[in-house]
Amino acid sequence: MGITKIAENKKNAQRTWEYTNSAREAWSNIIEEYKKLYPNAKVLLPSYIGWSANEGSGIFDSVKNAGVDFEFYSLDKYLNTDISDLKNKVKSNENCLVLLVHYFGFIDDKYSEIVEWLNQEKTYYIEDCAHAWLTDLIGGKCGRNGKYAFYSLHKILPLSKGGLLVSNQIEEAVENLNPFVSLNYDLLNIYNKRRSNYQYLVKILKDIDGIE
Ligand SMILES: Cc1ncc(COP(=O)(O)O)c(C=O)c1O
Repeated sequence: MGITKIAENKKNAQRTWEYTNSAREAWSNIIEEYKKLYPNAKVLLPSYIGWSANEGSGIFDSVKNAGVDFEFYSLDKYLNTDISDLKNKVKSNENCLVLLVHYFGFIDDKYSEIVEWLNQEKTYYIEDCAHAWLTDLIGGKCGRNGKYAFYSLHKILPLSKGGLLVSNQIEEAVENLNPFVSLNYDLLNIYNKRRSNYQYLVKILKDIDGIE
């Protein structure tokens, strides 16, 4: 967030990365920046928010701590966005901040349509990729459209803490911002292993009534 120099030579351009202790710390930083621009505006959140007694809520605690107004837009039972509800809420809340969440590493069925519409409306939106770092890095399927995206490293790698705040404003390459310098993990291997674990679970759960 500290870097604002816009790249003139697109060949050297890249997203900028900033380490945080967690995804929620990155999300809090984003909300604080947004509040400076629009002190009385509202955060639009998807209507599925996790909470646990140990960890609280990764999405909601930052909103609550920042003291910003909020409202929920609807999702269906597969956690896909109800686009007409989202559109209505964006239209009736000028300068709102929209949070899109890529739950469990999956992207919304209508992700392209959603981001195209948000871009067209010049909406300030953010991508929560806490579960979806590998979905972004391997295939680039999410995290590259919102003003910022944030990630939870400790959910993907064997680390006790760690998050990333990524700015999608194309900025000049700056030394020391590339996380792979210090993160020596075989990400493709981790990606493949996580997918094969998922496929294994799908297979053994598929005949149980009530589980899709
Ligand atoms: C969708 C989502 N976003 C953000 C977070 C926050 O992640 P972290 O534990 O890195 O703060 C979590 C987890 O709590 C989450 O499930």
